[in-house]
Amino acid sequence: MLDLENVTHVYANGTRALDAVTLHVPKGMFGLLGPNGAGKSTLMRTVATLQTPTEGTIRFGDIDVIAKPEALRERLGYLPQDFGVYPRVSAYDMLDHMAVLKGVASAQERKETVETLLEQTNLWAVRKKAIAGFSGGMRQRFGIAQALIGNPELIIVDEPTAGLDPEERNRFLNLLAEIGENVVVILSTHIVEDVSDLCPRMAVLAAGRIQLEGAPLDLIAKTRGAVWAKTIGRDELDECRLRYEIISTRLFAGRTIIHILSSDDPGDGFTAAAGGLEDVYFSTLARSRRVPASEPVSSTVAA
Ligand SMILES: Nc1ncnc2c1ncn2[C@@H]1O[C@H](COP(=O)(O)OP(=O)(O)O)[C@@H](O)[C@H]1O
Ligand SMILES: [Mg+2]
Repeated sequence: MLDLENVTHVYANGTRALDAVTLHVPKGMFGLLGPNGAGKSTLMRTVATLQTPTEGTIRFGDIDVIAKPEALRERLGYLPQDFGVYPRVSAYDMLDHMAVLKGVASAQERKETVETLLEQTNLWAVRKKAIAGFSGGMRQRFGIAQALIGNPELIIVDEPTAGLDPEERNRFLNLLAEIGENVVVILSTHIVEDVSDLCPRMAVLAAGRIQLEGAPLDLIAKTRGAVWAKTIGRDELDECRLRYEIISTRLFAGRTIIHILSSDDPGDGFTAAAGGLEDVYFSTLARSRRVPASEPVSSTVAA
């Protein structure tokens, strides 16, 4: 449904934030997982037509997104990472105002839209309160409500769960899950569980490149037999780092559990671990750090 081909973005200061990103995003929930600085927000803004890529093509259905950004905008709902609009107006009035901006002209239709969205996002009870006084979770739910105005076919949410407490996060993810299977929802996050809980398809973005793409369950299945775990003391960690390829370390009850990658039994007290999406993610990141850039990040020549 959404297809990116060789999308590259180089900022004016020479930062190559996206490097030949080719990605096919089908209908349903798609997880874009990556660490800070991976290029997630750059990718989201580019697809949302807020910036034009240096190179590459983007299609949504039969729309050429770069040639016809306004055609995409009519079908787009976007919740940016920094949705910095927390005005002292009520949630109801703000949604109504945004519906006007989105072209919902009839007052009756707007009333229905706004009321449905407030109920859907569980904000009905606080509809008359100023958004400025909302909690983080309420703000994000408001952010989804405004993104859903006008029944978008493409919904982009950029790191929506960062900073939410576990209960708010759950509520938010459930809301996303309800949005439906007939639209494309791209969720960017650095939190592995957001993807494993919610997304039938995913990609890992790191250093501006797609490092891995697929269905979480298939990707997990591929690590089977390759992930080994051992509980060690803190003082043993440095030595283990020299001997093994550690993909993750986790503290548990004052001890450290390490996961390593090994195609056969490493012995030395390691036991086979049931690999999870975290192992997939961390081993992908470890590999992406080892493989140097195919071309050096260009330094800018000021025009
Ligand atoms: N406006 C900008 N000008 C220059 N560099 C930028 C700009 N925005 C982002 N970057 C850089 O591009 C890279 C990717 O950033 P970003 O897309 O925000 O990643 P993410 O959302 O995954 O954290 C980072 O190195 C960041 O510093
Ligand atoms: Mg970001």
